[in-house]
Amino acid sequence: MKLKLVLASALLAIGLSASAQTVIKFSHVVAVDTPKGQAALFFAKKAGELTKGKVKVEVYANSALYKDKEEMEALQIGSVQMLAPSLAKFGPLGVKEFEAFDLPFIFDDTADLHKITQGPVGAGLLAKLDARGIHGLAFWDNGFKAFSANTPLKTPADFKGKKFRIQSSKVLEEEIRSVGGIPQVMAFSEVYQALQTGVVDGTENPISNFYTQKMHEVQKHLSITNHGYLGYAVIVNKKFWDGLPADIRGELEQAMKEATVYANQIAQEENDKALDGVKKSGKTTVYVPTKEERLALKKAMAPVHTKMADRVGKDTLQQIYKATG
Ligand code: LMR
Repeated sequence: MKLKLVLASALLAIGLSASAQTVIKFSHVVAVDTPKGQAALFFAKKAGELTKGKVKVEVYANSALYKDKEEMEALQIGSVQMLAPSLAKFGPLGVKEFEAFDLPFIFDDTADLHKITQGPVGAGLLAKLDARGIHGLAFWDNGFKAFSANTPLKTPADFKGKKFRIQSSKVLEEEIRSVGGIPQVMAFSEVYQALQTGVVDGTENPISNFYTQKMHEVQKHLSITNHGYLGYAVIVNKKFWDGLPADIRGELEQAMKEATVYANQIAQEENDKALDGVKKSGKTTVYVPTKEERLALKKAMAPVHTKMADRVGKDTLQQIYKATG
């Protein structure tokens, strides 16, 4: 009788611990060796440690589960619980304010950017997601973008008539049009092939994305224009998040806090390493525009701010201008 009781309670304990483990599927589209790829793994490890195994975060990199558009849908219906899409990809959720981050030359440098992402304006932007059934946890850096093509890109005239793959953002469409290029929205997982087959002529991305997708194999020229920013918001399905026990949520928030510090620490390093890799490959000529060339690009792209002010929201825009001086 006693043995039966012991066995029954042991089985109950096993059953309980198995069913008590919460799995978070965290899907993303970039390679493991990128700022986002590394930060996602860091978060997974921390979350496991801090919750003492009660939460298991499964990270799916490289569009293994979903491509850009599909992952947003999957989060909304709860097929995955966590994502970190780039800020250019929030339009379909109806939160167009995030596209303000895509405005050309809106941030001078990372310090400028952090005044927004790590301050009250950023918190206000994340809060807008709640009404859409999504909860925003943090902003993670990637970095400033470079332009690539098979011909040199030094002056605005060099962009004329060329097709550029962009992320799904109306602001980025205008950015490309402002220099006479033809924007083409495409999922990240399809860019390499589109460049290889000539479906598009060029693209823009931080160098960590460019290098880890091997775009340097199919692009002869890379211009370090730093003309715009690409970064992420880490988001969860709100119903799932609100349904977690408060102590677990607190531990996950702590894990996210530490992962965010880590992400923002390694972002520049990862991009520097990638630039080294591109240079060493000998396949792509890396060009750093002169001050005058960069200024000419900035001037050509300046009208995008006024054209897109209504879309991203004049208030949001003013808040960003004010906070970044
Ligand atoms: C892209 O589509 O170019 C990027 O948003 C990919 C990413 O997640 O960094």
